Formats: sequence, C-alpha cells, structure tokens
Amino acid sequence: MKRYTVALIKGDGIGPEIIDEAVKVLDAVSVKEGFEITYKEALLGGAAIDVTGEPIPEETIEIAKSADAVLFGAIGGPQWDDLPRDKRPETGLLKLRKALEVFANLRPVTVYDELVNASTLKPEVIQGTDLMVVRELIGGIYFGQPRAYEGDRAYNTMVYTKQEVYRIAKVGFEIAMKRNKKLVSVDKANVLEVSQLWRDTVNEVAKEYPEVSVEHMYVDNAAMQLVRDPKQFDVILTGNIFGDILSDEASMLSGSIGLLPSASIGEKYGLYEPIHGSAPDIAGQGIANPIATIASAAMMLRYQFGEESAAKRIEDAIKRVLKEGYRTKDLSSFDAKEVVTTSEMGSLIAQYASEI
Ligand code: NAD
Ligand code: IPM
Ligand code: MN
Repeated sequence: MKRYTVALIKGDGIGPEIIDEAVKVLDAVSVKEGFEITYKEALLGGAAIDVTGEPIPEETIEIAKSADAVLFGAIGGPQWDDLPRDKRPETGLLKLRKALEVFANLRPVTVYDELVNASTLKPEVIQGTDLMVVRELIGGIYFGQPRAYEGDRAYNTMVYTKQEVYRIAKVGFEIAMKRNKKLVSVDKANVLEVSQLWRDTVNEVAKEYPEVSVEHMYVDNAAMQLVRDPKQFDVILTGNIFGDILSDEASMLSGSIGLLPSASIGEKYGLYEPIHGSAPDIAGQGIANPIATIASAAMMLRYQFGEESAAKRIEDAIKRVLKEGYRTKDLSSFDAKEVVTTSEMGSLIAQYASEI
C-alpha cells in the first residue's frame, strides 16, 4: 500500500475546525483508493507563540520538510496583533513559505453552477468563470529589504530579481498551456521599476510559449476587470501583494472566501492552504465553511501525490453537496435546502467522496 506523511498545521481561529474536516475527507478517500496517510501535527502562528514564544519553532520546519506535503489551516488573531512584527503569527507563515521555497501560489477560482446566485455579482456575469491566479509567494514587498518602522517614518521595499520573475512566469505559462492558453500578467509598470522588470521578463518567457496569448494589465484595471467581466481571464500571473489582494477579490465571484483553495509549490515541497484567514469573528462556532480546506487537500492529492482519482472524488463530492443544497452559514441565503455546521459539511463530503 502507498503511504504518505502529511504535516498537519491547524493554526489559529477556525484553523483547527477546518483542518479536522479535511482530515475526515482524506481518511475517507484513502480507504477507498488504497493508500494511507500518516499525520504529524506541528505548531504555527498564535498556537505556537502560546506554547513556545515563537511563531514558528524550529521543529515545525523540520516536520514540514520531512513530510511528503504540508496541509495548513490558518493563523492569526487579535490577541497576537500587538506583538513585534518578527513575533507575529503572520511572520511564522511567511517564514514557513520561505523555508519550503514554495514560490508559486496557485489559487484556482471556480464558480460552481450550483452557486451562481450566491455571488454578490449578477449570475450572467459570473457563470462559467474558471480562472487561476498564479501568485509569486516568497518575494516582492513582503520580503524586500530594507524595511523599517522608525519614529514617524516607515518603509518597505518592493524588489524582484529577474530570476524570481522568470521562474514564476514559467509556472504561469506552463499552467496556461494546460488550460485555455491565455495569460494576463498583472503589474503596475506605469509607475514601478520593479513592475517594468516583471513585464520585460514575462515578455521574454512568452517567446518560449508562442501558443499562449499574453496581455499585460495594470493592477488597478485588473481589479476592475475582475468584477466587470471575469470570464475574460484564464491565468492571472502576478506578484506577491497584488496576488494576495486580487485573489480575495476573486473569491467573491464564487460566492464565499470559504470556497477558495490553494497550492503553494516550489522545486521540492508543497504547502496546501485555503486562501482565507483564521476568521476570528466566527471561530469556535462551528459555522466556518471547510470547503476551501477540503479542496486544498484535493489539490495536495493531485499535485503532490499524483492521486488524481482521489482528488476527483473530493471535487465531485463538493459539487454534489452544493447541488443538493447543503450550505454552511456563509452561503445560507442562497438556494439553501439545509444549513449545516462545519462538521456536518465535512461528514457529507467524506460520505459522498467514498461512495461509488
Ligand atoms: P479572514 O479571511 O480571516 O476573514 C475575512 C472574513 O471572511 C471574515 O468575516 C470571516 O468570518 C470570513 N471567512 C473567512 N474564512 C471563512 C470560512 N472558511 N467560512 C466562512 N467565513 C469565512 O481575514 P481577516 O479577517 O482579514 O484576518 C483575520 C486573521 O487571519 C488576521 O490575523 C490575518 O492576519 C489572518 N490571515 C491569515 C491567513 C492565513 O493563515 N493564510 C490569511 C489571511 C488572513
Ligand atoms: C494569505 C494571507 C497571508 C498573505 C498573510 C496572513 C501573511 O493573507 O495567505 O493570503 O498575505 O500571504
Ligand atoms: Mn490573503
């Protein structure tokens, strides 16, 4: 029997609730598909601070690196917001991504037919939307030096090297080749030198992919186009901060941020995480939508383990629960037959994924 080890990082807020549901679903499909997953838990974010004083203990990096993949919930919360920057939960996550060198964050945006009425946008605008945000994850303004908060002055540096842009652009074009061969690179080249380098480098890589149509779009226009006509997009290639913002915006095309999964990949490691945060406002109430995390687990099975049919089982099960009208609270005003808890949603998906 095939065996995989998964480092499990629950984190803070709704993190533990949603990860528990993903594990439920993974366990159900692994029995059906004949593989076994062993989990090793590791601390990150506030949960790690409370125990060790550090947002990312050394042991967490070791566990993450020794596993076949990392499945992560979310970190952060108001109780840790006043800590110095290097001690904050968010710094732990950024250090984990950096340590694993997961430079490409893939954030697929799917609008389920069953949920076309769930978006705040008109059904005819969003129906059929299927796009992939390819976000650079371990560079740009998040990591650039110098950075400081000095009295009445504070600054950060947005920096990219050609090599960093080249490798993320390659990922974007490779994904476009497997999709509809349409890539929009998003930058702010009318103002920023770093974006000019981005654009020049993307144009260079584009020469290697003559079949892919390439368009450059300024980030402000892209934000507008995403809600005006999201179907024009296939692959959106962009830097760290623009990708962060645009993917939260794009999540509302699908109806809820609780639906969007992601895969963070590099040469060696893979980190699978929902795009949303720890949602402190709803933590502990059993109302969080676990679908983003369950779909991230499906991405892990596909990209990291090559378990395509297990991934498909999960994705089909998600479609089926939505089709049958089961909704967590975030989607409860839209064609809900029954409003279910986080745990009930996980159990339904686990059940459907193991049928057939
Ligand atoms: P958030 O994504 O946690 O929440 C934004 C809104 O969406 C909230 O109203 C929340 O209730 C809702 N929401 C999010 N996920 C949901 C789900 N699965 N089901 C139903 N509703 C959901 O963003 P925020 O409020 O800006 O940040 C809260 C904390 O999370 C902060 O500490 C922030 O730094 C952190 N954060 C962490 C990550 C991560 O771990 N990857 C990502 C984003 C934010
Ligand atoms: C995300 C989050 C993180 C980011 C934060 C918590 C560091 O918003 O995963 O999208 O900005 O990358
Ligand atoms: Mn974000």
